[in-house]
Amino acid sequence: MSIVNGKGIFDAARSGHYAVGAFNTNNLEWTRAILAAAQETNTPILIQTSMGAAKYMGGYELCLNLVQQTVKSMGITVPVIMHLDHGNYEAAKECIEVGYTSVMFDGHDLPFEENLEKTKEIVALAHAKNITVEAEVGSIGGEEDGIIGEGELADVEEAKKIAATGVDYLACGIGNIHGKYPANWKGLHFDRLKELAAEIATPLVLHGGSGIPKEQIQKAISLGVSKVNVNTECQLAFADATRKYIEAGKDLEGKGYDPRKLLAPGTQAITDIVKERIDWFGTPEVK
Ligand code: G3H
Ligand code: ZN
Repeated sequence: MSIVNGKGIFDAARSGHYAVGAFNTNNLEWTRAILAAAQETNTPILIQTSMGAAKYMGGYELCLNLVQQTVKSMGITVPVIMHLDHGNYEAAKECIEVGYTSVMFDGHDLPFEENLEKTKEIVALAHAKNITVEAEVGSIGGEEDGIIGEGELADVEEAKKIAATGVDYLACGIGNIHGKYPANWKGLHFDRLKELAAEIATPLVLHGGSGIPKEQIQKAISLGVSKVNVNTECQLAFADATRKYIEAGKDLEGKGYDPRKLLAPGTQAITDIVKERIDWFGTPEVK
């Protein structure tokens, strides 16, 4: 199947009270691992590149080609959405040009009126090409690829204004944090999520999905979260499995140093964690 936009998939998730996972890719192994998890569970999936990861891999066009060609060569039949994660204005425009099927314009660090205006512009450009758009209100705490958020809760009136631009999904700060959660983290702000979901029909996005307890994720989904972003947990799973392989001395046995062998346990670990998260999110199988 060729890659698709996120429109029908996330609207169905919001009305069906489940979520579809959004997983960050960093290279070929990540891409294959995420796609394998989607295919094995027969569920739709969103694969995304941050600006930093795209730069690392060689640019947006290369990332798009990588995903498209991997979908083809692996014979993936489930819907795959190719998304820009936390893009600035220029990156969002570039990904629309290049042919991503979905983009996030993250204007949370701009004055609100500028975030609103630029979101409107990106929505107009993207929708003219049948590309879906995610925007952000309030900020996600922590740091991801140089994007630093203080973690303010989304303001309901501001969120309503951004939703009214016609964005297809909306990331809202509700106490969530990128990266590892500190021991003194107070948990998600469900009261704010309820207020947002009562006023906004747009599918809501939970960033910083790594390390949130399953019960909190599932409660957030029951209240209107339809897209859950996960990156750090895949990185930790990959690093942990690779460390075990090397600490067991397997790279020193035969041709265990061959990257096709050395990277295999980490790749499988990503597939395993993505499959587990798909189960947590309640993503239904494709009919
Ligand atoms: O945009 C991507 C994410 O929000 C992932 O956050 O690395 O904490 O899972 P995470
Ligand atoms: Zn994020």
